[in-house]
Amino acid sequence: MQLTINSPMDMHLHLRDGDMLKTTAPLSSHYFAAAIIMPNLTPPITSLKQLVSYKKRILEAAKDELFEPLMTLFFKNDYDYAFLEKAKPSIGGIKLYPAGITTNSSAGVATIDSQSLKKTLTAMSDLDIPLLVHGETNGFVMDREREFVAIYEELAQNFPNLKIIMEHITTKDSVDILNRYDNLYATITLHHLLITLDDVAGGKLRPHLFCKPIAKTNKDKEALLNVALSAHPKVMFGSDSAPHPRSEKEACGCAAGVFTAPIALQVLAQLFEKHGNLNNLQSFVSDNAQLIYGYTPPPKKVFLEKKPFIVPKTYGDVVPMYAGQKIEWSIVDVN
Ligand code: DOR
Ligand code: ZN
Repeated sequence: MQLTINSPMDMHLHLRDGDMLKTTAPLSSHYFAAAIIMPNLTPPITSLKQLVSYKKRILEAAKDELFEPLMTLFFKNDYDYAFLEKAKPSIGGIKLYPAGITTNSSAGVATIDSQSLKKTLTAMSDLDIPLLVHGETNGFVMDREREFVAIYEELAQNFPNLKIIMEHITTKDSVDILNRYDNLYATITLHHLLITLDDVAGGKLRPHLFCKPIAKTNKDKEALLNVALSAHPKVMFGSDSAPHPRSEKEACGCAAGVFTAPIALQVLAQLFEKHGNLNNLQSFVSDNAQLIYGYTPPPKKVFLEKKPFIVPKTYGDVVPMYAGQKIEWSIVDVN
């Protein structure tokens, strides 16, 4: 069985910087036509100068692949209209992190509501710049995303023209509000379509599956699968592939993040085929995002075949999901 995907896009990707970038960038740039690049470096990307030079480093590390990194700024409440107008041609969106909620987010926002963030959100809405949100409160870990729903609703109501993307949704509640507001959209990761909290901590602790938001219940996973497999037009694939050195994952104090970029398309093909929805994969991994972002990626064809692939145990110093295991689909060509 074979499958061709046109210009797959990863709408939420961590590539990091330095030596790590040299490992990660070629893996995504080979398989994907474009990706939304997260800004949570240390320090975070908050100026155009940083953003332009980070993009240059990504393109250098990506070798000669046809791949467009769609850059993001780390949300700050002092971005004004003039700055954002200048930034707009260079960015795909702005990423809002609640302060301290995940990796490198200490410079995030303490209070998230439309009044506190009015200046920047009004300018973003007027300029049609998407707002990408890590939607978790600092409550009990399993309730954080559920508690954030009220914040999404308040923002969506008060900024009806602002495109709000609920990043890496993990709960049925998040799925349910998608249809209630025209301006809400969502990305869904591969790992949240596959695992629940049981896979992370139900038996021996599996650090390479530990991520933020933490994987939830079966009911939540089913709700995510339902919209992903049917390629609901308001959802798109965003891997949240988040590499950390092995020493930071297999540690007392494990960093959050699952590294999926090099296996994402193959495992998505496996999952969509298993559920009889292979026809919807193109929409989930590219077409929906093109419509939502109003963006046309570079032309790239990725050819997959249903033949076994043994996932490497590591890529550089990073352990991928399914390390050393057999998956059912392989990428056989890209052009
Ligand atoms: O698991 C995660 N890892 N979730 C995030 O939100 C951030 C990411 C990272 O940058 O490591
Ligand atoms: Zn992320």
